[in-house]
Amino acid sequence: MASTQRGKFSNRIGFLAAAAGSAVGLGNIWKFPYETGANGGAAFLIIYLFCAFVIAMPIMVAEISMGRNSNLNPVGAFKKLGGKRWGLVGLIGIIAGIMILSFYNVVAGWAFGYFVQITFGDLLSQASFGSYFENYIADVDDNLIYSFVFMVFTAVIVAGGVQKGIERSTKILMPALVIIIVGLIIYSLTLPNAMKGIEFYLIPDFTKVTGGTFYKALSQAFFSLSLGMGALITYGSYFSKKDNIVSSAALVTAADITIAFLAGLLIFPLVFSQGLTPTAGPGLVFVALPGVFESMGPIMGKIFGGSFFLLLCFAALTSTISLLEVPVSYITDEFKKPRKATVAILAIIIFIVGLPSLFSNGAVKELTEFVHYGGETKSFMDLVIDVFSDLALPVGGFLTAIFVSYKWKTRNLANEIENGHSNFRGSIEEKFVNVMLGVISPLVVGFIIIVTVLEKFFDYSVFG
Ligand code: TRP
Repeated sequence: MASTQRGKFSNRIGFLAAAAGSAVGLGNIWKFPYETGANGGAAFLIIYLFCAFVIAMPIMVAEISMGRNSNLNPVGAFKKLGGKRWGLVGLIGIIAGIMILSFYNVVAGWAFGYFVQITFGDLLSQASFGSYFENYIADVDDNLIYSFVFMVFTAVIVAGGVQKGIERSTKILMPALVIIIVGLIIYSLTLPNAMKGIEFYLIPDFTKVTGGTFYKALSQAFFSLSLGMGALITYGSYFSKKDNIVSSAALVTAADITIAFLAGLLIFPLVFSQGLTPTAGPGLVFVALPGVFESMGPIMGKIFGGSFFLLLCFAALTSTISLLEVPVSYITDEFKKPRKATVAILAIIIFIVGLPSLFSNGAVKELTEFVHYGGETKSFMDLVIDVFSDLALPVGGFLTAIFVSYKWKTRNLANEIENGHSNFRGSIEEKFVNVMLGVISPLVVGFIIIVTVLEKFFDYSVFG
């Protein structure tokens, strides 16, 4: 059995750094602010917090437990604990992960390009950052280079293995990220109109809430916490039996939410101080921030602007690592292939799979205006995000909750959690986890998925 040669995190801190590193990423700093901006500010934030702590966190406990108990990748874990046919759920997760990494790496490439061009180029002397961003993401050469290099970074770290690659890099990158973000927040709060941004972000306006808001918040929670495709089954399989799963999941969730919250605290004052609108969509951080850095003057602008986009790259890197590790663990576990070769081949394949996404932001018209549904024209990348992130992750989470409650059974879940947490049985934590996984998550997640699929993909209006 190759399982004896599988990686292990060296201790609880190693796991926490890697899992929080996976969770904290572009989802927190790029996606969360623009989703919050587009979906009503503080009202979205409240719904998001509910989704993250109440719906998603128990699913995180379930994933980590499945991984640690089976000591396997997602496909192997579902098969071992539930029989061959359940392996399909793991496989869907692996495919979703590959597709998520394919577009995620493109956005990471934008961040990397911005870092380089702010620090070493003249990005900050543009007349309009909005049109600069639009032209930039349509530029084939730059994007090909930066996203390729980013994929190489990811691959090199993953090739280094669990302890020497993943754990060591995340232990350095995560604290660096926190320091940079806090420094930038302090500065942003001193800018004119900053308080308008804080108001938008922290005072809820529930008239902006629609059915779609719940879906957006739920999918964002899954995405941000890296749930629903087996990333935490994989990391759970490297987690020591001596450690407490429930408190670790709570810490990872809290860290993730804190960073997302801080990102909002940073971005909205900046957006309002420049008279921009918070509903700008995916370009939000790439358009709002350069203006502020420019106003700092050429030297400070380069320092702060460079730091910010470097931070975005760090955050993205600890996430791409976890996304790549999932298919790598699958191939190395199930087919006993050597790690380094597997990493190289998968990284190349995923980079190629990402090319249509890379070309779908203005470079190729047919990909930019790829499909039309839900009343909107969508690019190829939008489609990948809609299907493999916004839809597949909640579906994966739903199936995980059902699986653990009714197939693997909560008794086995509790047995696993008892390792490292000897008074779990009979505790309020146990009741919470069981009720959430067995009843509330399937109902809430299932309902939101059905309504959204009907409305979004089939233009059928459920509530008239
Ligand atoms: N959570 C990361 C972010 O917020 C993205 C990510 C990493 C992810 N691994 C994942 C998303 C697994 C879904 C599944 O940027």
